[in-house]
Amino acid sequence: MDSVNCKVGTPNLHAALPYVASDHRYDNMIYRRCGKSGLLLPVISLGLWHNFGSVDCFENFEKIAYAAFDNGITHFDLANNYGPVPGSAEENFGRILKHGLGVYRDEMIITTKAGYDMWPGPYGEWGSRKYLMASLNQSLKRMGLDYVDIFYSHRPDPNTPLEETMGALADIVRQGKALYVGISNYDAEQTEKALAILKEYKVPCLVHQARYSMMDRWTEPALLPLLKKEGVGMVAFSPLAQGLLTNRYLNGIPEDSRAAKNHFLQRSTITPELVAQIQQLNDIAQRRGQSLAEMALAWILKDEGVTSVIVGASSVNQLMDSIKVIEHLEFSQEELNDIDKVLKNNK
Ligand SMILES: NC(=O)c1ccc[n+]([C@@H]2O[C@H](COP(=O)([O-])OP(=O)(O)OC[C@H]3O[C@@H](n4cnc5c(N)ncnc54)[C@H](OP(=O)(O)O)[C@@H]3O)[C@@H](O)[C@H]2O)c1
Repeated sequence: MDSVNCKVGTPNLHAALPYVASDHRYDNMIYRRCGKSGLLLPVISLGLWHNFGSVDCFENFEKIAYAAFDNGITHFDLANNYGPVPGSAEENFGRILKHGLGVYRDEMIITTKAGYDMWPGPYGEWGSRKYLMASLNQSLKRMGLDYVDIFYSHRPDPNTPLEETMGALADIVRQGKALYVGISNYDAEQTEKALAILKEYKVPCLVHQARYSMMDRWTEPALLPLLKKEGVGMVAFSPLAQGLLTNRYLNGIPEDSRAAKNHFLQRSTITPELVAQIQQLNDIAQRRGQSLAEMALAWILKDEGVTSVIVGASSVNQLMDSIKVIEHLEFSQEELNDIDKVLKNNK
């Protein structure tokens, strides 16, 4: 990892000077309107699912957050359970805000979510009003915020009436604890119902957050067309397939990589067939004069219906590589055909 001298745990923030943002932070980033709302989001957003927890190096992820903001990334994506340990990414982000980034609060879109397992007992997961309200209060406390910009229902709950979950989202906006609401991991049918209920409550759904990459195109047939028709934005998570769509695994599995460290990306996924496919995609990227990560992000952003891609990063260098995508977003038909051929041949 090209990171700094790493100390895991709570940093001594008094030792370092407070952060001051670059005057050039808005020089290059591209912003897209989120659906038919008034909100613009940067085409690259930063996600704090991994690498920002209490097991990670504060000095490293603090630098990643500052590099993001210095380059026009105004959108930071969190959830109650991000860590590990769950909740620690929000606590750490709160510390980063206190250390200077928070001065720019009005220039930032900070999101959080609730839906997955967070605390013991019957009220610590899924989609009840009880859970969503309590969880957001906890998230605000951890980050030291009065409000988040977007609050998400992190996943649909098969056992809670959708009216209850959407009603809680609408009331959260009315209480001023979130400016907008969104849903995540809802399929097209569930999304259609959720949008209709939120419309009735006069709190429109701003955005859907869905997994989308060259390697996972489930959103294409029904969800993306629905969101476009309804004027709802779409932000794509895991756009690099957790690092598979980069140069990370071209020469084995590095010890500091997600596949080596984390059960969310299994070592066994990285088969010789997959590496051969990634190599072919890497060759196409090189012909375009891009890294594979840049090409994979550009490939998603070619669809104007996608507002932003939420990338993860374990180093500033990775983030800076991904940001470079904005220099070359266009594809020739031939390049698209070549990519499709690689993806189809290896299904
Ligand atoms: N709503 C949901 O249910 C949900 C689910 C998952 C994620 N998300 C959101 O989406 C965000 C991104 O997810 P993700 O971390 O899976 O995204 P990703 O961008 O697909 O993968 C990030 C990983 O790819 C590697 N990487 C990133 N840039 C690279 C580069 N330029 N060159 C080489 N390797 C690079 C790093 O792996 P190494 O760590 O191995 O270096 C990094 O940790 C999350 O933080 C979260 O905010 C939401």
